[in-house]
Amino acid sequence: MKMLLQHFLLVTMIFTGSVYSGSCLDPKLHANDKNGNLISSAKLSRRLMSVDHHQVENSTRRKPKSQPRSSSTRYVVNVDNFGAKADGTDDTQAFMKAWDKACSTKGSILLVPSSKVYHLKQIIFDGPCQSDITMRIQGKIRASTERSDYEKDPRVWIKFENLINFSVDGGGVISGNGQVWWPKSCKIDKSQPCIGAPTAVTFSKCTNLKVTNITIKNAQQMHLTFHECSNVEGSNLKVKSPGKSPNTDGIHVTGSTNVQILNSDIGTGDDCISIVSGSDNVRAMGIKCGPGHGISIGSLGKDGAEDRVSNVLVSGVTFTGTTNGVRIKSWQGGRGYAKNIVFQNIKMLNVTNPIIIDQFYCDKKGHDCKMQNNAVHIENVLYKNIIGTSASDEGVIFQCSKAFPCEGVKMQNVQIKHNGRSSVASCSNVNVQELGANTPKCPKH
Ligand SMILES: *[C@@H]1O[C@H](CO)[C@@H](O)[C@H](O)[C@H]1NC(C)=O
Ligand SMILES: *[C@@H]1O[C@H](CO)[C@@H](O)[C@H](O)[C@H]1NC(C)=O
Ligand SMILES: *[C@@H]1O[C@H](CO)[C@@H](O)[C@H](O)[C@H]1NC(C)=O
Ligand SMILES: *[C@@H]1O[C@H](CO)[C@@H](O)[C@H](O)[C@H]1NC(C)=O
Repeated sequence: MKMLLQHFLLVTMIFTGSVYSGSCLDPKLHANDKNGNLISSAKLSRRLMSVDHHQVENSTRRKPKSQPRSSSTRYVVNVDNFGAKADGTDDTQAFMKAWDKACSTKGSILLVPSSKVYHLKQIIFDGPCQSDITMRIQGKIRASTERSDYEKDPRVWIKFENLINFSVDGGGVISGNGQVWWPKSCKIDKSQPCIGAPTAVTFSKCTNLKVTNITIKNAQQMHLTFHECSNVEGSNLKVKSPGKSPNTDGIHVTGSTNVQILNSDIGTGDDCISIVSGSDNVRAMGIKCGPGHGISIGSLGKDGAEDRVSNVLVSGVTFTGTTNGVRIKSWQGGRGYAKNIVFQNIKMLNVTNPIIIDQFYCDKKGHDCKMQNNAVHIENVLYKNIIGTSASDEGVIFQCSKAFPCEGVKMQNVQIKHNGRSSVASCSNVNVQELGANTPKCPKH
C-alpha cells in the first residue's frame, strides 16, 4: 500500500511537472505524522489522480516491511525546468544544468518528459553524484549529426561516468541518427578514413547500475557499452538498427564484472551482444537477437593483446536470420583466455554459423593474419539444448588454434538442421565431449 501511495505521488509529481523539495516529501516524516505532510500529499494525489481514499488511508497505518529505493518519494528534476525546449534546437546545456541539480540531490529523478523530442550534442553525465539517482527518459532524445559536436571524444555521444547506485528507465527512446553516419563509415565508403563514430550510450566506471525499459536505436556506431562497470542489470531493452548498418553492435561489455542482460530485443548490423576483455561473470538471458552477427565473446587477442573473459552464461536466446549464433572469436598471436562459458536453451532460426569458435579471426584491415605461436586459450565451453536451423550446411564450426587447442568443449542435446537434414560440423584442434544426442557431431579422428 505504501508503495502504491508513493507511486501515485511520484506520478503526480511527474504529471504536474513540478520540482518538489525532497525534504517536504520525506516518506519517514509521513509515517510518523498523522496530520502533516502525508495527508496533504494524499489529498493532492486524490485530486489529481483519483486515488482510492481507503487505499491511501490504509497505507498510513501499515508499516512497510522495507523501503526499496523505487518506493521512496523522490525529488524530480525536470529538464524542461532547466531550459530544455524540445523544439529542434540544442538542449545540451539544459540537460547539463538539470544533471548538476540531480547529481547533487540524493534519490532524485532526472526526468525527460514524454511526448517530446530533445536534441543533444555530446554529453557527459559525470559523477561522483549522490546515491540512488534515476534518469527517467520518457520522451525521445536525438543525436546531433555534426561530427564537430563530438570533438572531445569522437567515440562518445551520451556517457555516464563514475556513478554508484544509478538507474536509467522510463520507456523512452534514444536515437543516434545513425543513418547520417553510416554512409561515411569506411566499411561502406572505402574512400573514408576508418575513424569510427560515437557509441550512442556509454556507461563507464559505474557500480550498481540498472538500465531498464529503454529503446536505443540507429546508433552512430555501437548502441550501448558497459565499460569498467560492476553489478550491472540491463533489462527490457530494445536495441534496433538495420541489418546493413556498419559496426552497430547492440550491447558491448568490456572490462566489466557481474553484468546481467535480461529480456531484451536486439537487432542491429553487428553483434547483438559482444563481450570482450576484462569481463567476468556476464549473463545474457531472455534475448531475441536478429538481424545481426549473433552473440560474441571477442574478438580477443588483437595485435598480441592479453585478453581475459570468464564465467559467461548465455541462456534462453532466439537467433533469427543472424550471420552467427553463439561465437567465440580470437586473433592469432593473442594471449589470455576465454573460459567457463555456457551457451544453453537456444533456438536458431536460419542462422548462417549457429555455433562457432574461430581462433583465426581476422578482418584483414592491415593486420597480420598469419598463423602464430600464441593464442587466446579457450577452455571449458558447454553447448547445451541448442536447436534449430542453419542457413549454411555447417551447423558447428570449431576452428581452434594448433598451438593451443580448445579444451573442455562439451555438447549436449544440440540439433541443428540445414534444409531438413542434419547440418555438418567442421572441427579442428578440439576434442569435443559429446553428451546426449548431438547432430551434427565433430568427426572422430
Ligand atoms: C486495510 O488493510 C487491512 C489489512 O491489510 C485489510 O484487511 C483491509 O481490507 C484494508 N482496508 C481497505 C479499505 O483497503
Ligand atoms: C548503494 O546502495 C547500496 C544498497 O542499497 C548501499 O548499501 C550503499 O551504501 C550505496 N552506496 C552509496 C555510495 O551510496
Ligand atoms: C516502461 O516505461 C513506461 C513509461 O514510463 C511505463 O508505462 C511502463 O510500465 C514501463 N514498463 C516496464 C516493464 O517497466
Ligand atoms: C535464410 O538465410 C539466408 C541467408 O542469410 C537467406 O538468403 C534466406 O532467404 C533465409 N531463408 C529464410 C527461409 O528466411
